[in-house]
Amino acid sequence: MNDIYQKCKETADYLRERIDAKDAIGLVLGSGLGDLADEIVDPISIDYSEIPNFPQTTVKGHEGKLILGTLNGKKVLFMKGRIHYYEGYTMQEITLPIRVMKLLGVRVLFLTNAAGGVNRKFKPGTLMFIDDFINYMGDNPLRGPNIEEFGERFPDMTKAISAEYSTIAKLTAEEIGIEVKHGVYMAFSGPSYETPAEIKFAERIGADAVGMSTVPELLVARHCNLPVIAISCITNLAAGITGEELSHEEVIETTNAVKEKFKTLVKEIINRM
Ligand code: HPA
Repeated sequence: MNDIYQKCKETADYLRERIDAKDAIGLVLGSGLGDLADEIVDPISIDYSEIPNFPQTTVKGHEGKLILGTLNGKKVLFMKGRIHYYEGYTMQEITLPIRVMKLLGVRVLFLTNAAGGVNRKFKPGTLMFIDDFINYMGDNPLRGPNIEEFGERFPDMTKAISAEYSTIAKLTAEEIGIEVKHGVYMAFSGPSYETPAEIKFAERIGADAVGMSTVPELLVARHCNLPVIAISCITNLAAGITGEELSHEEVIETTNAVKEKFKTLVKEIINRM
């Protein structure tokens, strides 16, 4: 059996004895959004450090808990704290939790993140549905022997984002009157922010937002046929657009300022999923 598959199975077996995530909605909470997890009813929380093969979070604002419970009456499995490639893990390591979710029977995945705005019309605080993405991380979690148990060698990415759940998300935003843009997310490996020249490049090739996450999870979810949608909170204008320097503090400040709007939207979408 493939090594990675073996590890995913081991982790899923461990978790199955503690939680029943069958048919749950899986959520990955991006920078600053962790406290949505506080609203989960009847939570069962497991620290990443207790879960075999789970990578540990090392970034401020990413706590490291897997939480099962209900939100608006829907069964949810939250990852409170994301694992990033720049932390030093391999692509296969950072995406293990997504594959484990699939093995646990999670029925749809909802990814959230903080991102820099490349599209000049996207001011800090803008929310953006990810309609498509550019993998500029220089690596791919599907590299290496294909894990047949999860999916095929050459998975299609034309329809990487679930059309069904995107429609639900879009209609939800309209119905509750929260404006959400649509765009292309381009992932860099980080951890340095992009240079102004890289952002000019990103803009020219069609990116609307840039970030350091989400794309590995999207690729793996698509590969194992786990329907997935993703939303970015634009926390700052990308490098070189205003001439100001970028900081993680600014990212956290903006997510704090739009958190309530973001949380409302995510909860309402979950409600209709
Ligand atoms: N670049 C990359 N990642 C980010 C940014 C950015 O400008 N803002 C928040 N995450």
